[in-house]
Amino acid sequence: MAVVKRKIYLDYSATTPVDLRVVEAMTPYWSEVFGNTSSVHAWGQEAATALERARGIVAQVLGCQPGEIVFTGSGSEADNLALRGAAWMARQAGRGNHIVTTPVEHHAVGHTVEQLRDLFGFEVTFLPVDGYGQVDPDDVRRAIRPDTVLVSVMMANNEVGTVNPMVRIGRVCREREVLFHTDAVQAAGRLPLELDDMHVDLLALSAHKFYGPKGVGLLYVRRGVGLAPAITGGGHERGMRPGTVDVAGAVGLATALELAEQERREETARLRRLRDRFISGVLDAVPNSRLTGHPRQRLCHHASFAFRDVEGAWVVINLDLAGIAASSGAACSEGDPEPSFVLEAMGFSPDWGIGAVRFSLGRSTTEDDVDAVLGVLPGIIEQLCAQS
Ligand SMILES: Cc1ncc(COP(=O)(O)O)c(C=O)c1O
Repeated sequence: MAVVKRKIYLDYSATTPVDLRVVEAMTPYWSEVFGNTSSVHAWGQEAATALERARGIVAQVLGCQPGEIVFTGSGSEADNLALRGAAWMARQAGRGNHIVTTPVEHHAVGHTVEQLRDLFGFEVTFLPVDGYGQVDPDDVRRAIRPDTVLVSVMMANNEVGTVNPMVRIGRVCREREVLFHTDAVQAAGRLPLELDDMHVDLLALSAHKFYGPKGVGLLYVRRGVGLAPAITGGGHERGMRPGTVDVAGAVGLATALELAEQERREETARLRRLRDRFISGVLDAVPNSRLTGHPRQRLCHHASFAFRDVEGAWVVINLDLAGIAASSGAACSEGDPEPSFVLEAMGFSPDWGIGAVRFSLGRSTTEDDVDAVLGVLPGIIEQLCAQS
């Protein structure tokens, strides 16, 4: 089997390495400035000052108020807080019982909504998506009822890279006075996060997707939006996310977000060129391949395919043996031989749905890397087809 000369990581949608500038910014907050931000003494206040500085940087990048940022322990936790917090609050206020979302959300949203339905009696409408996994804002308009308390639509899909028409969906929610949450975990550093243009009320991010540390995320909570805490405890993060705050993590997230935003235009243009070269290379060289997700309204670094009658997991294993990291569908469902639920919702038949493979490019990716993968992938698919 062909092996690439240097190992090639094409799984930047699963996670990214921490930028060394971020590591440097974080380092003082483990052993030097280590106080608990809730403590009244100098140690605590020094940590609290650093935390508020990080919050200020995030707010500046996102164009919101520092008081609208809640640091969390991950992107998943931010999504959980948004959905459960908004749903429980609405129920307590007697505002309604109905949630609108999509069938292609990350499990951090999908499973939370299912739990709200199955354990807490909320009604859920799953919007249709088209063959690219995109939501039609008119379907959002049609799905909203007088008792709808929340709409949750992801900004960009992790598995197929499709970007949703956020401005139009947000406008519908605003007109109908329904809270709008978006999981923007895959979007940060790759798309502009225009909170006001998108009319979002709640937006979740995760630092490890944009060269920040793992285990830290945030939820933007528009001023005036009340959330019941999904975790109960102390009064940290204005009572919305109890638990001693990870100051180093917050500093890391803020630094990574600032850097990602500063470098976004140049880096996204570079990645888009590499992505397009890779996509056309694969479609030209592999007869039983299809691009999944939108051909243009897709993340700049994202190239995902379905290979007919080939198991995506085997493609990933063979790529790994050749020195290349990719993933089959969503990284979190790795090892699951079922067809991708995202491709299923997009109308792919199971013979295509089992063959979902995602390549996601990032800062280390070069043209030589793309060409090296193109030199190996067609042979892997051909071999797996011959075995099937
Ligand atoms: C779209 C999306 N939402 C949420 C998450 C969860 O983020 P975290 O890993 O920080 O919990 C991910 C991670 O893969 C994701 O891609």
